[in-house]
Amino acid sequence: MSSLAQRICGIRYLRQLSSMTRYRRGLMLAALAVGAMFLALQVASGDEGPFTTLFSFIPNGVSFPNPNGASQTYSANGGGIDLSGPFFQSLGTNGRACSTCHAPGDGMSVSAANVELRFLWTQGTDPIFRPVDGSNCDHDIDVSTAAGRYEAYSLLRTRGLFRIGISVPANADYAVASVQNPYGCNETDTISMYRRPLPATNLRFLSAVMIDGRESSPATGTTKILFSNYPGALRSDILHQAMDATNGHAQASPPLTLSDPRLATIVNFEMGLTTAQAFSNRAGLLNAQGANGGPKALLGQTFFISMNSSVHTLLPQFEQPGGLVTAGDGQSTPAIFNTFDAWADLPASDPRAAVARGQAIFNSKPINITGVAGINDDVSAGGLVAGGIPSLRGTCGTCHDTPNVGDHSFPTPLNIGTGDPGAVNVSVNLGGLDISYLPSITVCKADAATGLPTNNCKTTTDLGLALIDGKFDHVGKIKGPILRGLSARAPYFHNGSARALLDVVRFYETRFGFALTPREESDLVAFLSAL
Ligand code: HEC
Ligand code: HEC
Repeated sequence: MSSLAQRICGIRYLRQLSSMTRYRRGLMLAALAVGAMFLALQVASGDEGPFTTLFSFIPNGVSFPNPNGASQTYSANGGGIDLSGPFFQSLGTNGRACSTCHAPGDGMSVSAANVELRFLWTQGTDPIFRPVDGSNCDHDIDVSTAAGRYEAYSLLRTRGLFRIGISVPANADYAVASVQNPYGCNETDTISMYRRPLPATNLRFLSAVMIDGRESSPATGTTKILFSNYPGALRSDILHQAMDATNGHAQASPPLTLSDPRLATIVNFEMGLTTAQAFSNRAGLLNAQGANGGPKALLGQTFFISMNSSVHTLLPQFEQPGGLVTAGDGQSTPAIFNTFDAWADLPASDPRAAVARGQAIFNSKPINITGVAGINDDVSAGGLVAGGIPSLRGTCGTCHDTPNVGDHSFPTPLNIGTGDPGAVNVSVNLGGLDISYLPSITVCKADAATGLPTNNCKTTTDLGLALIDGKFDHVGKIKGPILRGLSARAPYFHNGSARALLDVVRFYETRFGFALTPREESDLVAFLSAL
């Protein structure tokens, strides 16, 4: 069984692939993709289909093809992924498992392209297509026909988006002035927003759970993750998240409680996973010639909350409880990624050298960070410094500072503008990102004395943290996700607005006013797609 899996998707094949001509390699990868697709579909749907019966176990080292090469998900427990565990079981009432939306073949998220394939294969009956949060809206829709489902699930099919409905907190210091949702769901008490599944892997490196941090927030009865309570708080947040996911996405009835032993098993499973791209169509094996790509190297990656925070060293006032990191202590370096250091001296024409050059751009290209709520605003509004800092000279790694992983090493909700339609309060240029398919939500700050709405209003497509803690100043603030396994899970940003990594890079160029040459752009994309 495991040897068959190895033969279809295994690393031995990929080693041979790197020495093939590009044409033969293309054909080979297409064949691998079909095999993996079967497996991915079966694994994801939680069905007892022929492939899950055949493959009840994915051994470490099995590769899943994606448009840029192949990714691997490595489990620290039991030598691989046991597909019979509760993560892969339907624990609710609508047929969904965690793996419906967090699939090993898709870097433990789902790519929109594979969701579309699942729609075509099943005519929209795969359990991912359920109106509770899979359809654009859950009222006035007809999911009794394939044509109706095609329409109702269009955001999920084309952008991999789920509808996340969150109620406005009772203590909010703002009022919702209007919601214009093209799909219905215009309620102003529960706001519908559209988000990508974050990868359920590499969780050891998280400093906040969920895009808006809502599973790591006292406002929801969960715990903010600090240096002093890590990893206990992270584990309890992940447990709470698994309960909410089962009761919400999978519509468990009666609802599961925190003491359900299956949830503890899910947490152990998830916490043991690491995922990364392992093979690149252009650069070959990503751990060759001394490089540390692929998931295995991540197993040994040191991490603690506030580790290597460059914001922290740039702004010493912003000390985190860890207090361990100081410039020059060997724990803090602006070179956030050193994964591909070994390829830096290869001849410039070698595709591996391009990956190393992209890494250098990520680590060192100066970016003037302005207009980012969470960095440039006043500390009373959730910023880092009293009075605010109008412009912070940083790099990609200022916000993506966890070494070789790329999320933020301590909780830092930011609004870089990926959800803001044009000029809000700061002038934000979306750099070609299309967010026209999202709702437009306008909220106005309430007068502290009278409680009546003022003229201080913001329009956004996603309220982010403001919907969790009720603070107007937190509109649109979200976390930066882990940057490993990106190639397996397009499109990007919380709302799927960047279809490809080049769109991500161009967004940053426009948003922060810097220009890369075409070669620098393609080098940075080569690096990101090799993560
Ligand atoms: C219907 C699709 C769907 C199902 C089923 C699902 N998830 Fe998710 N998951 C999502 C989405 C969407 C998000 C991001 C939502 C947000 O942040 O608001 C997410 C986020 C997460 C995160 C947060 C990761 C991070 O970086 O913060 C974890 C962990 C997770 N899911 C685990 C699970 C587990 C465990 C299950 C099964 C009990 C599960 N999910 C079931 C769609 C799903
Ligand atoms: C000011 C802080 C900041 C800077 C600087 C920054 N990022 Fe980000 N990054 C974020 C945040 C916040 C998100 C989440 C945005 C979203 O999901 O809408 C993000 C998301 C991303 C994503 C999408 C990940 C995913 O899973 O969808 C990629 C890729 C990325 N950043 C790469 C980069 C690169 C490359 C640079 C440098 C050119 C960079 N970032 C600079 C804060 C930053």
